[in-house]
Amino acid sequence: MISDRKLEHLLICKNYDVEFKNKKTGFEDVELIHKALPEIDKNDIDLSTSVFGKKLDSPLFITAITGGHPSAKAINKQLAIAAESKNIALGVGSQRAAIEHPELADTYTVVRKNAPDCLLVGNIGAPQLELADKAVEILDADILAIHLNPLQESIQPEGDLDARGFLDSINQITKRVDIPVMAKETGCGISAEVAKQLVGAGVSYIDIEGAGGTSWAAVETYRAEDRYLGETFWDWGIPTAISTVEVTDAVDVPVVSSGGIRSGLEAAKAIALGADSVGMALPFLKHSVSEEQLTTFIDRFNDSLRIAMFLVGANNIEELKNSNLVISGKTREWLNERGINTKKYSRR
Ligand code: FNR
Repeated sequence: MISDRKLEHLLICKNYDVEFKNKKTGFEDVELIHKALPEIDKNDIDLSTSVFGKKLDSPLFITAITGGHPSAKAINKQLAIAAESKNIALGVGSQRAAIEHPELADTYTVVRKNAPDCLLVGNIGAPQLELADKAVEILDADILAIHLNPLQESIQPEGDLDARGFLDSINQITKRVDIPVMAKETGCGISAEVAKQLVGAGVSYIDIEGAGGTSWAAVETYRAEDRYLGETFWDWGIPTAISTVEVTDAVDVPVVSSGGIRSGLEAAKAIALGADSVGMALPFLKHSVSEEQLTTFIDRFNDSLRIAMFLVGANNIEELKNSNLVISGKTREWLNERGINTKKYSRR
């Protein structure tokens, strides 16, 4: 049953090694240029950003994690309290289970109850057009995310392997709901071509969720009887730094960079590559032991972002976006092969 699957995912992600093995995010190939004369006051650095008119205290999103199983309620409550107190955006996991089983609705309604002013992101799958209105209503969502996960479906024993008509369904969802619709991957990234298709279908926000962090092939490997398929595709996907550039270069909608982002330094690189915000899932799950642990984690993350900004002399997110950086190695090779001139980032 779908609800049991949600619990298995939580337990596997908390207790097993589910991150990419040999492929990294690509941020190791990206260097911001140290400024020995920052000429700014670190204490004045402003991390605030605005998402569809809502002001947030940091460009950090808690991306989709959970809901739909009784044990998810406590996690979502802690995440909601932490996100509200730090004024950052919060996404919930796929809402299908709760819509099909109304007795699980409180695993989602607990979020708005504890985060009355937070920017909340709902979550459904691309073919689930009929769930869109209910998902927005149950969460009282500000944005509706549509997740794309063909790799997970391929490895998961009960996976849905008919991916025809998804773009059309996304197109209909964007027309149907009266809040912005975000498309998000789940750890394999989004290419320039797909980004253009999504924007053509009316999507107004893209969360790239690239490769290098949580691997859903890995998660499903632990659930499968035969590990062969999961192990073969464990490291599949477009590295996060690369996907960030592909998408920000191709389309003109706001972009969240995510998938394996683990520090404010990586976040700073993602923003200088063109992202508007950054997101993390697994680290938030691991820190959802108490509200205090979560808020301390957010504070540390924000501090490391602030230091990176100080060291490049950026007073705010807009200035960080225009900071010079150098892209080398495999990441540059990939981007150059794909027709993107990486020099444009090095002297602006
Ligand atoms: C997820 N993720 C996810 N995404 C989604 O769109 N709907 C979902 O229901 C879930 N469920 C979920 C459960 C758990 C336990 C985790 C850890 C993650 C995927 C998540 O939003 C993100 O795309 C990936 O985890 C990659 O980011 P990190 O974990 O490397 O920061």
